[in-house]
Amino acid sequence: MGATVLAAVSLVAPAWGGPASAGPSAPAEAPPMGWASWNSFAAQINYGVIKAQADAMVSSGMRDAGYRYVNIDEGWWQGTRDAAGNITVDAKDWPGGMKAIADYIHGKGLKAGIYTDAGKNGCGYYYPTGRPAAPGSGSEGHYDQDFLQFSRWGFDFVKVDWCGGDVEGLNARNAYQAISDAIGRATAKTGRPLTLSICDWGKQDPWNWAPGMSTMWRTSQDIIYWGQSPSMDRVLGNFDAAQHPTAQSAGHYNDPDMLVVGMPGFTPAQNRSHLSLWAVSGAPLLAGNNLATMTADTKAALTNREVIAIDQDSLGRQGTRVAEDQPGRQVYSKVLTGNRRAVVALNRTDAAATITVRVADLGLSGRVSVRDIWKAADLGAKTTSFTVTVPAHDSVLLTVTPA
Ligand code: GLA
Repeated sequence: MGATVLAAVSLVAPAWGGPASAGPSAPAEAPPMGWASWNSFAAQINYGVIKAQADAMVSSGMRDAGYRYVNIDEGWWQGTRDAAGNITVDAKDWPGGMKAIADYIHGKGLKAGIYTDAGKNGCGYYYPTGRPAAPGSGSEGHYDQDFLQFSRWGFDFVKVDWCGGDVEGLNARNAYQAISDAIGRATAKTGRPLTLSICDWGKQDPWNWAPGMSTMWRTSQDIIYWGQSPSMDRVLGNFDAAQHPTAQSAGHYNDPDMLVVGMPGFTPAQNRSHLSLWAVSGAPLLAGNNLATMTADTKAALTNREVIAIDQDSLGRQGTRVAEDQPGRQVYSKVLTGNRRAVVALNRTDAAATITVRVADLGLSGRVSVRDIWKAADLGAKTTSFTVTVPAHDSVLLTVTPA
């Protein structure tokens, strides 16, 4: 969250330190930043796993760099309810219940996220990932009850998946509208905002309706499936599929999925390119690596302040492709506050390439000053156009500032 947004919020923030309740005058939420359990742990999560990641988010400096959410994904709940229909969890995995972990996360100065499905059965029923397939781990038929419960437990964020909804053939727009309405009723009762993350993988064109009911919506398949290694093809595919710039505005974001930065098999250059693409998109930045074991290089990439500032720019715009002079040699540009631009020169080809950036393609004219963000190096003043050399399957992230 940018400094301006924090300052605006603090005037009316409730005692627990979260944002003011959403309303006509509430500031737009910047692209959510945090960590989510799915990419590294799948369904094998419990209090200890989540606590260790919350601890690492603080000790690594990620919290101070702006990462806030600790999001519990699939696997926390096995579909059991009590006689009154309230969700029940295994006390061995979650001593003190889900409120205890939300309290622990808040105690670290962080925000807590949880997860359910729009249908009757969650994804773990159809695709078990480290726990037996359990039916009933979705919220259909219990929307009011479950979202009120999440809010009472203290959660600040909820991702709502689509496995059951998809199998049942539900209308996604109607289902998520009902969920959004249930969240509105829950937060009116508790006074605690609950950020909605829609996860229907781009099915039924959420960019056409999700902005009116959620902070973020997935636009594609998963960036990594359980047991696989991350791949740049998937990163690029999800980046491409998220291109719905007219749907995006401050507080409402296309979601190309959680990050695979720092996961085994990804190189430092791939980590940087992945972050550059998400930043130029103004996408949510939800790390998916194991924060407790990450390398210094991964930590440095995830906490790069200039990259984060590009992502979190308060205009909330999504960068778009403005040039492709030769196939696979592309220029993306995102409008930032102050009439600046963030630019990614992306080389999708197998050979190093010189990519030309024309100032007019960025919607600017006259003299501009150019900065290479990952090198933290000013490249000086340019007019009309300039070139950057980009290794094969790599990218360069720049800011361009009118003189
Ligand atoms: C779906 C979602 C993923 C993750 C898994 C959990 O595939 O798209 O992000 O939540 O379910 O099973």
